[in-house]
Amino acid sequence: MSYSRRGFLTAVGTTGGAGALFATMGALGLAPTAEAATRTAFVPPQPSDFTLTGRGAKKVVVLGAGIAGLATAYELGKAGYDCTVIEALDRVGGRNWTIRGGDRVTELNGSTQTARFSDGVYMNAGPARLAQWMVTMDYCRELGVPLEVFTNSNAQSYIFNEAAGMTTPVRWRTAKSDVYGYISELLSTATDSGALDAKLTAQDKERLISFLRSFGAIGTKANGFAYTGGERRGHSVDPGAGEQPGTALGSVPSLSEVLASGVGQRFSFEFGYDQAMLMFQPVGGMDAIPRAIAAAVGKNRIMLRSKVTRITDLADGVEVEYQEHNGRTRKIKADFCVAAMPPHILARTPHNLGPDVQAALATPTVTSSGKIGLEYRRRWWETDENIYGGITNTDLDLSVMWYPSYGYGTRRGLVIGYYHNGANADAYAALPHAQRERRAIEQGMKIHGAKYRDELASSVSVAWKLQPHIEGAWVGWPSRTGAYQLLNRPAGHVHFAGDWLSYMIAWQSGALESARKAVTDIHRRVLTH
Ligand code: ALA
Repeated sequence: MSYSRRGFLTAVGTTGGAGALFATMGALGLAPTAEAATRTAFVPPQPSDFTLTGRGAKKVVVLGAGIAGLATAYELGKAGYDCTVIEALDRVGGRNWTIRGGDRVTELNGSTQTARFSDGVYMNAGPARLAQWMVTMDYCRELGVPLEVFTNSNAQSYIFNEAAGMTTPVRWRTAKSDVYGYISELLSTATDSGALDAKLTAQDKERLISFLRSFGAIGTKANGFAYTGGERRGHSVDPGAGEQPGTALGSVPSLSEVLASGVGQRFSFEFGYDQAMLMFQPVGGMDAIPRAIAAAVGKNRIMLRSKVTRITDLADGVEVEYQEHNGRTRKIKADFCVAAMPPHILARTPHNLGPDVQAALATPTVTSSGKIGLEYRRRWWETDENIYGGITNTDLDLSVMWYPSYGYGTRRGLVIGYYHNGANADAYAALPHAQRERRAIEQGMKIHGAKYRDELASSVSVAWKLQPHIEGAWVGWPSRTGAYQLLNRPAGHVHFAGDWLSYMIAWQSGALESARKAVTDIHRRVLTH
């Protein structure tokens, strides 16, 4: 999705800094290997840190049992910190939420859906893909969460740009063949005619043309480097046995038509550092991650259905007031607090951390996002269209459609019928679920036809701005100075953590790295005090 580049990703810009730092550490013999040097060093607190220094483990209250809060309690717990996690929802994970049959989706306006998905069918309503370089992979290894490939791009899925006049979707493989082919034809012709002589030596020209002939599957110089289609586009009749060589997909569009279709502008999605294949998912649902962390923390340490109502920094610690589901108000005192709630919810929570902190918490802007899970009675995308996972990219208000990367060849399956943000998400959020479903189906039929409506078994939609105690998909900062920097430092005994305090907003890895930072900061305070 283009918004992942535009909206919240500035992570790539930071890697130069970390890389440079670790190159230096490597030279000093501090970084174990070149490979390991790509990630911020983190050493979890250990019991021996206390026994060696004669200090005792401290008490920490963690606000929020999302990924950042859980990881904070998990890492501190390794050294024996006495952690309590306070969570407003009746489940752990926060936005990491896997919906299965029987689960209820209640929105702020009080409307409730009950999922009717069949056994083994699930919907990752929030995070749904992990990049290989993300620390989330390490937590899965450490906690024994099994992973499988999440197919983020698939030559067999579609691109559909309705505004460009497309009436039928085009497969990614076909779009790539045409764009790469024509670009190669143009560049070869320009190179050969001397148009680029100011930039290229004779040998460069030869090598460039050699590359383009292979990259674009174009003709020789004798036939003008012409792109004329070919089997990369796909087949109208697949190759078979005996006398059946297959028929390459015909009616190759002209260069002008390919440019007008705008398909090439979709390609950069899969080049993203955060979106490039291979990507991964936990087997059986993304919530395997928070479940595993919560089990390691200990269920007895996590107070569910408990809403934080006040945070008071004290001379010698911190006091947090919270309300249990039965209405009873309780107070908990601790040496430190890690506030791992969304900033806009923290901004509504009474505290004595001062006006600067309050202004900083109110600074980020909240993004809307929504998904609909459509369970089908049969896996028509596999049986009829030979699509096994991957994403169809569109300019429709559904934005993208995801085919499941699990359960191949089984009976039923769940397609993500829309995953959009911003204005599209707000427009769907404003509708009751039945109307969201109807609109999503109408849009999706433009790609998949009547079966998209006729084979539907049931559906569930999540509009993140309407989710109680979360009220948004992710946030964006106007800048990484000022408010962002202030909240990356403790306010008295209160530290903050969350993906919103990282350069990986809207990724669990951002939450995990931020938790590690809070843990490191607290542990350093405790050991040096
Ligand atoms: N990180 C989220 C995604 O990959 C936003 O869609």
